[in-house]
Amino acid sequence: MTQCYPLVNPPLPYGYGALEPYIDEKTMCLHHDRHLQGYIDKLNGLLLDYSCLQNCSLAALLQNCGKLPKSVRTSILNNAGGVFNHQFFFEGMAPCSKTLPKTVLYQRICKDFGSFEAFQEAFRKEALSVFGSGYAWLVLERGCLRIVQTANQVTPCLPLQTSILNLDVWEHAYYLKHFNLRRDYISDWFSVINWEKANQRYLDAV
Ligand SMILES: [Fe+2]
Repeated sequence: MTQCYPLVNPPLPYGYGALEPYIDEKTMCLHHDRHLQGYIDKLNGLLLDYSCLQNCSLAALLQNCGKLPKSVRTSILNNAGGVFNHQFFFEGMAPCSKTLPKTVLYQRICKDFGSFEAFQEAFRKEALSVFGSGYAWLVLERGCLRIVQTANQVTPCLPLQTSILNLDVWEHAYYLKHFNLRRDYISDWFSVINWEKANQRYLDAV
């Protein structure tokens, strides 16, 4: 969120095939190297003509959209959102994810949703109900965990909602392996959630 123009695409924090058999290597390669790279290239292209925006961080672009030139506002928001949402998604996964450790976040999930299983079911339902392309998110809002969805590359409402986890449900995120079976993709994603990262995000937010 702190990076500025020109944005770069750091390598994934794990190998392309490290999330197998849940998320396949080809999908991860295309998702990171083509889709995310595409958003980065388009955002850099837009900022190239606006030197006044080149020192703005990704977070600043997303949070101060009213100050963006009208002619490029939507394009910058779409592409800055695409960069943030994807980087957040990739960093929120890890190979060999074990069951959620009994962290502070775990305790908070159980408190706010009744049980971890109830949270999983609520998240699954929300992710399944995203119409078309978008994301399901676990966010912290006014001290409580909530599950929300955003369309396309919209990000949760900063600073009201602090993101803890997100799941990309654009078809490019799962179609090669799971075809049209989004439910199966969601189940597999639960096996590769980086709970340590999610817990740290939560601790940073409270
Ligand atoms: Fe994506």
